[in-house]
Amino acid sequence: MTSGVEGIFGKPIVTQEEMRTRIRELGRQITADYAQKDLILVGILKGAFAFYADLARAIRLPLRMDFMVVSSYTGRSKAAAKIKVLTELTEDIAGRDVLLVEDIVDSGRTIQHLRKKLSAKKPKSIKVCALLNKPARRQVEVVVDYVGFHIPNKFVVGYGLDYQQKYRNLPYLAVLEKVSEEGEPV
Ligand code: IMP
Ligand code: MG
Repeated sequence: MTSGVEGIFGKPIVTQEEMRTRIRELGRQITADYAQKDLILVGILKGAFAFYADLARAIRLPLRMDFMVVSSYTGRSKAAAKIKVLTELTEDIAGRDVLLVEDIVDSGRTIQHLRKKLSAKKPKSIKVCALLNKPARRQVEVVVDYVGFHIPNKFVVGYGLDYQQKYRNLPYLAVLEKVSEEGEPV
């Protein structure tokens, strides 16, 4: 067994300080862009939980909030054939300006699927804000309107992102190099 969650990973690839600074910038930009709009922030759970909470508080507008629970991965960095929406929206998005909040855009399939699915509900606009973008892994072309950080083709954990449902609570972003048979980083 390993000790603390921070003890088992090496240097952060994005630190808490870098995260704070960048999210403040994104918040300012979104505040300006949506000043005259009817913004509804749609968080894609579970991965976006930490980013969503920080981003929402960096936006100075009377926005609405909603969430979807989506699963797209089976095991380690292996895209499932099908993206599953486990929990649907509870708010009406018709005529409103939707901003999808994602942890990371990797193959692009999740965002492509959600854009299409939500368009059918007739929102006024749909845009995407992702904390991370891994363009090297793209399989389908998608527009990511706001990006926190572009990262290299590595599997990352922390700040909401998991490896087999663990390490989401790591307060910074770390690269998962190797894992043991028990599923612990080594
Ligand atoms: P996409 O549909 O391939 O773009 O994948 C998006 C989802 O895959 C994200 O919301 C994450 O949950 C997951 N994912 C992609 N890359 C990583 C990673 O490096 N670490 C953890 N989860 C990842
Ligand atoms: Mg995930």
